[in-house]
Amino acid sequence: MREIEEKARGAYVERFGEEPQLVASAPGRVNLIGEHTDYNDGFVLPCAIGRRVAVAAGRGEGGLYSADFEEARPLGEKDSSWADYPRGVAWAMVEAGHEVGAFRAALAGNVPLGSGLSSSAAIEAATALALDELCGFGLTGKDLAVLCQRAENGFVGVNSGIMDQYASLLCEAGTALLVDCRSLEAESVPLDLEAAGLALAVCDTRVERGLADTGYNDRRSTCERAARALGVESLRDAAEEDLERLSGEELSRARHVVSENARVLEAVEALRAGDFELFGRLMYASHASLRDDYEVSTPELDAFVELARGFGAPGARLTGAGFGGCAIALVPTGETGQIAKECRQVFDERGFEEPAFYEFVPAAGAELAR
Ligand code: GLA
Repeated sequence: MREIEEKARGAYVERFGEEPQLVASAPGRVNLIGEHTDYNDGFVLPCAIGRRVAVAAGRGEGGLYSADFEEARPLGEKDSSWADYPRGVAWAMVEAGHEVGAFRAALAGNVPLGSGLSSSAAIEAATALALDELCGFGLTGKDLAVLCQRAENGFVGVNSGIMDQYASLLCEAGTALLVDCRSLEAESVPLDLEAAGLALAVCDTRVERGLADTGYNDRRSTCERAARALGVESLRDAAEEDLERLSGEELSRARHVVSENARVLEAVEALRAGDFELFGRLMYASHASLRDDYEVSTPELDAFVELARGFGAPGARLTGAGFGGCAIALVPTGETGQIAKECRQVFDERGFEEPAFYEFVPAAGAELAR
């Protein structure tokens, strides 16, 4: 059992006075490339990280308990707390016709909160897997991911795409996950960074993503307008030559989506050929497109990407929705500390918040603990 799973199990025992029936856990994610494409029916390529949320569950009364917040909450109504994620998953299951019944659960996690590393999808995915096992539904990872997205959209009230839930449930260690967000087909692509002597350095800029919801919804609706103007169902169906029929923000946002989808497919080919140089160049191009056309970067994210470039990193880009949050860089294993040192200094000089750093290799998706 992983440490975090042990923590959830221990909290369950302490709170409810008996062993849980099972413990499930699910990871956060970084997206390697394919940003703001999921809600445009496009392609994404995330991988799971070595930070997880664990859910220890069993039958009985007692509701929900968070070992991290040392706080109990009833199953019941939405209250805009952490408990809305497990509640939302149970709600989505019931809504889809699956009889969940009474359960109780203790949660523990080490995915940084509110940083854009998908701590919320990790709670949802771990809860979904736990309830599926507890109730014997036998749903697939894909089914569970769709239910988690339903929980996020319909219960929590955040209008996110499908990427984070897919990544948390379906990623495998040592691979990235190519998802076609239209067909919902997903395929693992080998990403043996360790063999290539590389790792993913993550810089959490600690910038409050306060405007994230507004900005995110605004980008979504501009994309929908652009698709309508082109007479296509979604920007997935737009080609480069269609773009000349657009102007203003509709043009720049659509140009990002169309070029980003092409970059994801090229990036997958690069990975299959073990060509990390090309893969890295596509990451830089993705960042430039998010900065200039999609306008979701920040001075902090740009500064990290430029530092990584100066450092000789094969690739770097912002990851997740943007508007703050995290950026990633491909770096030689163990060198995150070096970039981190330089980055802290530059951020300090520019009066930015002190960033946090992590180093990851592609980790396993949701699993039951043994
Ligand atoms: C957030 C959302 C995802 C996706 C990304 C942008 O992480 O939760 O669904 O839209 O932003 O790529």
